This record gives sequence, structure tokens and C-alpha cells, in this order.
Amino acid sequence: MARDERPIGVFDSGLGGLTVVRALIDLLPDEHLVYFGDTGRFPYGPKPADEVTKYAFEIADLLLERDVKLLVVACNSAAAAALEPLRERVDVPVVGVIEPGVRAASRVTRTGRVGVIGTVGTVRSGAYQRAAGGDRTRGPPDRAPPARVSWNSSRRATSTPIRYTCSRERLLAPVRAAGVDTLVLGCTHYPLLARTISDVMGPGVVLVSSADETAFEVRASLAGRTRRPTAPPGASS
Ligand code: DGL
Repeated sequence: MARDERPIGVFDSGLGGLTVVRALIDLLPDEHLVYFGDTGRFPYGPKPADEVTKYAFEIADLLLERDVKLLVVACNSAAAAALEPLRERVDVPVVGVIEPGVRAASRVTRTGRVGVIGTVGTVRSGAYQRAAGGDRTRGPPDRAPPARVSWNSSRRATSTPIRYTCSRERLLAPVRAAGVDTLVLGCTHYPLLARTISDVMGPGVVLVSSADETAFEVRASLAGRTRRPTAPPGASS
């Protein structure tokens, strides 16, 4: 059968989704990619879900004009708000970063206690809990560190290290207190902060970035297979 030479469309609110592009290039080096980073309207995290959904529709239309064969929503906030509406709207397969992140976390957790950090929009949406099939994954209630706060915190590190140490400890305190053994980096910026997040969480907590798992999902989707989340140990359905 002839190869489908059409590109894969990938989008994010900015440049963080390039972590997913990197994983796609590694796993599917022969595929063509078109990336859209919405830096003009960044950030999506604090914006209402209907506004983010409107942006996602506009970007999807732009990418479909480029004749993409599959859409990757490489932004947690956009996937949380718009994945299902997008799937209903477009004729090509749509892969988000949330389901792959849940699946990767389900695979590595030993206790079934999985934390998620992300933007306000992602955490409030409950999308991770839904992807895990109920209450299996519990994110910090509503004080998840927004990406920009953490980002700013890391920049302050250069001038005021003590304040930085307090800040990162404070931001991650809810997930530390929850006793998770696995933490999903549910925002495209967090892989860039993985070292410092790991430093605070300690060696007993595995950090999960959904980029690699998302690339596997894209490969499976192109091959006509579907990947489903597996339940963490001890989870009730
Ligand atoms: N790309 C967004 C995400 O993954 C983070 C930045 C933003 O707030 O737009 O949730």
C-alpha cells in the first residue's frame, strides 16, 4: 500500500509542544510535520475553556488547510478543553497529550497514587481524572502551580535562590502531601523544569512526561490501532 505522504499537524499554545515534536521526529523520522505555536495568544492555561476551544478550532482549520492526516493537540490546556469537541468536528484522527500521559503513569505507578500538575485550566477541567476513568488519578485540588508561576520561579533562582527554594517547595507541597509515587508533568513547560521538580519530590517519585507516549499513540493511530489507558494498581473501576 502506498505511504500516506500528508503531514501530521501539531499545535500548542506556544513552543512547549516542541517536546512532542522531538519525540515524533525520534519515533517517526519519515513523517512530515507541520507545527503551529499560538505564541500570539499564549497562555491558554488561565483562559476559559470555551475560548481555548475556539482557538483550537481555528488552528485545526488552518492545519487541515495544509492537508494534515492527523492532528496532535500537544498542549494540555487545549486538550483538556477541546479534545472531544475537536474529535467531533474534524474528519482526521485527533491525538491529545492527556490520555498518553495517563497511560504512561498507569504503567509506572506501584501504589496507584498518581499526581498531576498543570495549568489552572487543565486541573480544573478534571480531564486527567476522566482519562483515568474516574477518581483513579487525583490532581492537587485547585492550587496546581500554573506554568508561568513555576517558570517565573525558576528565573528568580538566579538572583534569589532562597526565595526560589521556598517557592518551589510551596508550589509542590500539595502533591508531596498526597504521597504520590508518580507525578504527571501535565503542562508542556514542566519537562523543562523536570530536574528541579524531581529535586523537590525526591527519588521515590517517578516523573512522567507525555511526549514519548504521545508519539507512540500517533504511531498506533497511523497504523489503525488504538491504545487505551491501563488502570493503576489497586484502582477500582
Ligand atoms: N501549553 C500549555 C499546557 O500544556 C502551557 C502554557 C499555557 O498556559 O498556554 O497546558
